[in-house]
Amino acid sequence: MELLDGKVLSETIKAELAAEVDKIKQAGGKIPHLAAVLVGEDPASQVYVKSKIRSCEQIGFKSTLVQRPAETTEAELLEIVQQLNDDPDVDGFIVQLPLPKHINEEKVTLAIDYRKDVDGFHPVNFGRMAQGMPAFLPATPFGIMEMLRRYNIETSGKHCVVLGRSNIVGTPMSLLLSRKGYPGDCTVTLTHSRTKDLPAEVRRADIVVAAIGIPQFVKADWVKDGAVVIDVGINRIPDATRKSGSRLVGDVDFDGVAPKCSHITPVPGGVGLMTVTALLMNTLKACRKEIYS
Ligand code: GUN
Repeated sequence: MELLDGKVLSETIKAELAAEVDKIKQAGGKIPHLAAVLVGEDPASQVYVKSKIRSCEQIGFKSTLVQRPAETTEAELLEIVQQLNDDPDVDGFIVQLPLPKHINEEKVTLAIDYRKDVDGFHPVNFGRMAQGMPAFLPATPFGIMEMLRRYNIETSGKHCVVLGRSNIVGTPMSLLLSRKGYPGDCTVTLTHSRTKDLPAEVRRADIVVAAIGIPQFVKADWVKDGAVVIDVGINRIPDATRKSGSRLVGDVDFDGVAPKCSHITPVPGGVGLMTVTALLMNTLKACRKEIYS
C-alpha cells in the first residue's frame, strides 16, 4: 500500500508556484492576487480560509481576506462580490461556503464574475468543464486529478465509484473521471443516499472517491483488493485520548481499508491540502488569463 501524500505533493506544487511568482517578479509582471470572503463564524470555514490565505503568503501571491459577521445581509454580500468583480487587481476570489441560512448561495455564486471564479462553482465554468472546454475546475476535484496525475495512477478503462453527488465534489469528479484523456477515461458510477446496495457498488470499484461527509463510512469489506481509495471527508469525531478531545477522520475507515489498497489518501494530509493547492493553481491561471482573455 502506498500513501497518496497530499502534504508532500502540495509542498512540491507550491514550490513550483513560488518559482513562477519569482519569474513574474523578475519580469516586472503582475503578482497573482486571490481574495477570500468569509461570512459568519463557522469554525471549519475559518480554518479553511486561513489556510488559503496562509498558502498565498507562503508562495508570494497577494491575498485579501474580507471577513464579515453572520448578520451580514445578502445585499451587503452581493455588494462585496460586485466590488471584487470590479477590482482590476483581484485576479480571482472565492466566497467560502456554507453561507448563513438567510443568504441564497445560488444567487451569490451567480453574481461572481465567472472569469474570476477560481472555485469553479459558477454554472459557466461548470458547463464548460462538462463539455471539456477550458474552465476553472472546482478546487477539490482539480486537486484530486492532479494527485492522480502526479502519482501516475492508471485510470483508463478503470471502474470508478464516486460516493456523493454534491455540486462541488461528487458530480464534477464523476464528469472529470469519465472525460477523454488522462487522468480520465474511467467508467464511472455515481452513488448517493438512494443507491441500493452501496457496498456491492463499491466492491466493483478500481478507484473509490468517498465524498459523503459521514465519518469512517466506507468499510474494509466494501473495498476490492488493490483498489485506489481517495478520501475527501474531513470529519471531527470525539477522541478522549487527545488533548483537544477530538480528532479528524475521513469518510473511509482508514485502518481497516488501507491494508487492502494499492493507494490511499490519509486524513488529514491528503485531499484537503490538494484543494488549497488547486485553488492557487487556478489563481495563477486567472492572473495569466489562461482560460479567459
Ligand atoms: N466549502 C467547502 N469547500 C469549499 C470550497 O472549495 N470553496 C468554497 N468557497 N467553499 C467551500
